[in-house]
Amino acid sequence: MPSAQRPTPKSRPRRATDASLAARVSEWFTRTARPLPWRTTPRDPYHSLVAETMLQQTQVSRVIDKYTALIDRFPTVHALAAADEHDVLAMWTGLGYYRRARNLHAAARTIVSAFNGRIPDDVESLRTLPGVGRYTAGAIASIAHGMPAPIVDGNVARVLLRIHGRDAAPSDKPTQAWLWERAEALVNAAADPARFNEGLMELGALICTPAPSAPDCGACPLRRDCVARATSRQLEIPRTTRRSGRTTVYCAVAVIQRPDGALLIEQRPGTGMWARMWQAPTLERTDRAPTRAELARAVHAPAAGLTLRARFEFLATHRRMLFDVYHATSRTHAAPARGEFRPRSALARLPMSSPQRRALDPRTPGPATCSPRSPG
Ligand code: ADE
Repeated sequence: MPSAQRPTPKSRPRRATDASLAARVSEWFTRTARPLPWRTTPRDPYHSLVAETMLQQTQVSRVIDKYTALIDRFPTVHALAAADEHDVLAMWTGLGYYRRARNLHAAARTIVSAFNGRIPDDVESLRTLPGVGRYTAGAIASIAHGMPAPIVDGNVARVLLRIHGRDAAPSDKPTQAWLWERAEALVNAAADPARFNEGLMELGALICTPAPSAPDCGACPLRRDCVARATSRQLEIPRTTRRSGRTTVYCAVAVIQRPDGALLIEQRPGTGMWARMWQAPTLERTDRAPTRAELARAVHAPAAGLTLRARFEFLATHRRMLFDVYHATSRTHAAPARGEFRPRSALARLPMSSPQRRALDPRTPGPATCSPRSPG
């Protein structure tokens, strides 16, 4: 029997052509796309570079305000290239993964110096830019320049694995290779690569959502083609890989204020987490919380002057960080042994991690909400 006439098993959807799948995703996206600030007509490649960099590892809802503020401050790639790295980092506060900000700034400089200020439109040139990997290069080439370049991110991977009923972890090497091949075949079959790629991402973000939330299959333009749906395996696909646990880091922070209101701050080391960003003097340990006496010794303050004022937890990707925030008043205007005094009004412009901003914020809850983690 010719394959066209072979009966399809009841539970298995018919295999649609890639052109048909791509057309339905594109048509769905045209109808339902969220009005996000970088989705202008036409798309602007510089805006696309900024948005895609911010969207690496971060959700759309957290990116919108930061994106708008950064574009207002640095409206062109030339303005960004001319900026001080500190100012770019300061605008990244709250987004985390600060290496992305440094890379974006370095990419802007490369675009000005090596590409005459034009964002390249081919994946190969885009990938020479700092921080631009296969996904980001594909996104800019396709979404901003209309090139048929594939993209695979977490959202795209979930959609493709479910449609094909492949019970695999997206991070597996062979699965990665398969995903990029499928994404390439589909984008090549799409009439409008930009609309299709953005639509595929949007489908994963809004409809084909990750477990444990149930995907909204009734609203999916590919529901007739989806093997996971036909076999009721939407929540099993993709297979999840177990995350290695976070290590706990205990941080004791000394918020030291002079009578004129200036606060003592210091710069972090040039490597490691939050490299070269500013903070109140902080002592970190991984075995237990530093004691008040240890913190006092580290900042050269009399221990009696340090009062525990706040405690909070901050979850970073690989670390659970427990902050104890101590306050003290400095009576001397002499140069400190460590760090430098700056007026509170100057802190907003300095690059600083979210937990450090929180520690230095006078509105952070006081002693009623905290008891010491350790004696001393
Ligand atoms: N996530 C990554 N890139 C995106 C984009 N262009 N639109 C929406 N979500 C995204």
